[in-house]
Amino acid sequence: MKLNNLILVSALLIIGCSNNTTTTAVLSEKTPTEQCNDNEKVEYKSTIDIINTRRSVRMYKTTPISRDTLNIIAECGIKAPSGMNLQPWEVRILDNQDMINQMSEIYKEDNQIDTTLFRNMFRNAVAVIFLGAPKNTHLFDSGLLAENMMLAAWSMGIGSCCQGGPINLLKTNPKYKFFMDKLDFPEDYELIMCIGFGYPGDTPKPTPRNANKIKYIE
Ligand SMILES: Cc1cc2nc3c(=O)[nH]c(=O)nc-3n(C[C@H](O)[C@H](O)[C@H](O)COP(=O)(O)O)c2cc1C
Repeated sequence: MKLNNLILVSALLIIGCSNNTTTTAVLSEKTPTEQCNDNEKVEYKSTIDIINTRRSVRMYKTTPISRDTLNIIAECGIKAPSGMNLQPWEVRILDNQDMINQMSEIYKEDNQIDTTLFRNMFRNAVAVIFLGAPKNTHLFDSGLLAENMMLAAWSMGIGSCCQGGPINLLKTNPKYKFFMDKLDFPEDYELIMCIGFGYPGDTPKPTPRNANKIKYIE
């Protein structure tokens, strides 16, 4: 099967299986592609389980994420709805550890870092997806894209963490210009979010939610 077809089939499997709320909640550490190659039964959590069990992960194993898997994550991202189907986003995937480390060295030089748990400036992720959007607009569309990617990742046992913190630094500190140029966003686009991905190295506790935010209009 051609790579593109395989990616499409895997993505459809995720969506198809995820709609079935009775699917057994078993997650393999292998990607769907690896499971298919090993003739294993591919099992996914239900969409509701995936949403309810996702946590922001800030400590990861060093295991790399294969490009097949990163492609599935990104493809699921761009399946997100967007106003008038404008798809007003740009998605850049960084899985080059040297580059992640070089960026993090600058971060370490410029910030007081407790290096005990610090592996890199992207919350220790092994891959980072940078999102660009047209300046000052269309953020909602990219938010949908981001959540699609994080949920798709989690359905394959891959944790993630949105990071708004480094955005200003990356955009304004001239030491990062080389890396920002690499993103190669169109002229009228800007960096709006970095999302770190990796196989979880710990099990974060759920963070509380305020159910009072939801009200029926009677
Ligand atoms: C727009 C946005 C920006 C965020 N920025 C950061 C960040 O800079 N650093 C970080 O560690 N987590 C960041 N987070 C993750 C949030 O802290 C996290 O989603 C929140 O505490 C809820 O926890 P949960 O994701 O585990 O449910 C961000 C999340 C969002 C949606």
